[in-house]
Order: sequence, then structure tokens, then C-alpha cells
Amino acid sequence: MAPLLRIQNLTTEFTSDGTTTRAVKGISLVLHKGETVGIVGESGSGKSVTSLSVMRLIASPPGKIASGEIFYHNRQGQEIDLLKLPEQEMRKYRGNEIAMIFQEPMTSLNPVFTCGYQVLEALQLHKQLDKKSAKAQTIELFKKVQLPRPEAIFDSYPHQISGGQKQRVMIAMAMSCDPSILIADEPTTALDVTVQATILDLMRKLQQENEMGILFITHDLGVIAELAQRVVVMYKGNIVEEGPVREIFQNPKHPYTKGLLACRPPLDRKLNKLPVVGDFMKEVEGNS
Ligand SMILES: Nc1ncnc2c1ncn2[C@@H]1O[C@H](COP(=O)(O)OP(=O)(O)OP(=O)(O)O)[C@@H](O)[C@H]1O
Ligand SMILES: [Mg+2]
Repeated sequence: MAPLLRIQNLTTEFTSDGTTTRAVKGISLVLHKGETVGIVGESGSGKSVTSLSVMRLIASPPGKIASGEIFYHNRQGQEIDLLKLPEQEMRKYRGNEIAMIFQEPMTSLNPVFTCGYQVLEALQLHKQLDKKSAKAQTIELFKKVQLPRPEAIFDSYPHQISGGQKQRVMIAMAMSCDPSILIADEPTTALDVTVQATILDLMRKLQQENEMGILFITHDLGVIAELAQRVVVMYKGNIVEEGPVREIFQNPKHPYTKGLLACRPPLDRKLNKLPVVGDFMKEVEGNS
């Protein structure tokens, strides 16, 4: 069976003042049904640009998907190239079959509407529900993501709730249409550890319910170890290493991955100086 998502040679670039820089340089990756693939990599390595490219949300200009294909195996069993769809068609998939939790909550929550209204609207749009059932389902979703006092949050504006609560509203919104693919861009980085654990549990549960494929972007290798089956390591717009999580963690090949793993402070001993990725990159820089 065709994978849920198949990215082929994706290149995305940005142009400013006549200079074009490639943020993603011909990457390929696949995601299967029910699978979680972690994407790790240092800041600026192209993780968000990759996910925004899949959603076709790269602002143009200055951005542009310069080449590549992004095949999605839709619910009708067809494999379609998202990049070839007219925008009108793409809208049927975006948020509905392919949902995203954005790195920055305020990117997807509109400050002038209540949290409840925003999820309700998404439900009405994608599931053609009447207002009453959409409201009931929204409250139900808020309970699922363990928001305290879901009725009160329904009527709150984004600025009236905490960062962790906003994140959970976004997760509720992303989950509202039972997407086949969930792209989660650092969904828990801003949360404290206990809330993070709850959210990860929740995502796992929801994934089991409908065999959703998850692309999980994070800096946190601990989260990857807990959630993902495979991991993709990005560095400067390239995928430099990928494989089953255990294999990569036990036997990292690329100097950047070695560095990333070594940068986790060891639990059992004290270091005089914490290593930085640069300490491990001399080999790579020397070769390129
Ligand atoms: N709108 C934009 N205009 C110009 N350059 C951009 C834009 N968005 C991203 N870039 C560039 O693309 C590169 C990759 O950015 P991206 O946001 O994908 O990084 P990231 O891996 O998600 O980093 P982080 O971990 O900090 O979120 C960066 O060098 C960034 O400067
Ligand atoms: Mg990012």
C-alpha cells in the first residue's frame, strides 16, 4: 500500500533583495498510516519550512516551492500530488485530512474570536454540522484535551487563557476533523513537563483511534524516543540521517546527530563544559 505521505525531492526557497536562499534542499521522506516520524534538527534547519510546504502555506513571495512532489494518499485511495492541486482543491484537504499544530499558537488562533467559536467553525466547515452539534462536539474535544472548565474556555478569547491552554485548543482544533495526517511543529515545547506528558499521551491515544500518521517536529530527543518509530535528522536544509529511533540513538552516524545526542546533559555525570554541536561539526564542514 502506498504511504500516507511521500515527499520527493522537495526544495523550498526564499528570495529577498534579489538573493535566493534554499531553506529545504531536495529532501525526500515517507510517512505511513499509524506511524509517527520525528523530525529533529537545530534551529533554522528547515523543519518548519518542510511542514509548511506540505500544507502549502509558504507565503509567496518571499517563499516558493521550487521543485519536488508531495504525494498524499487520500481517503478515496488515490495518490495525489498536493503541489499540483488548484488552491480550491487543496482547501478540502488542509485542516480536514491534513492538519497542523503550529509552532506558534497565535499563528492559528485568531485573537478576535473566542476559542470555542474557532473550533466550532472548523467543525461546521469540514463536517457540515449544525451549530448545536458543532458546539457539543467542541466541548467534547476540549474535555478530551483535558482543558479545565471547557465551557468557560469555549467563551474565552485566546489572550485570556494560558500558553498551555492555547496549545490544547490548537490540538483540539487540529484533531476536530479526525485528520489522516497530523503535522505537529514543536507542539509541547512551551509547556511544562507534566502538561507535556498529558498532551503526548493524548496524541498517542487519538492516533490509535484512527491510525493517524504523525510528523512530529521537536528539539527534544526524549520526546522522540517516547513517541516516534522513525526519526529524520535535518541539518541546513538537508536530511542528513534517518532510520528507526533506536538505531539512530544507539549508533548515530552523522557528526551532527552524534552532537545532538551528546548535547543532552548526561544524567549520571557532571561535565565541566557542555559540548556544543559545533564541536562535532568540524568533520562535516571540512568535507563540504
Ligand atoms: N518567511 C521567511 N522568509 C525568509 N526566510 C525564511 C522564512 N521562513 C523561513 N526562512 C528561512 O528558512 C530556514 C529554515 O527555517 P525553519 O523555520 O524551517 O527552521 P526550523 O528548523 O523550523 O527552526 P526552529 O527550530 O527555530 O523552529 C531559516 O534559515 C529561515 O531563516
Ligand atoms: Mg520551526
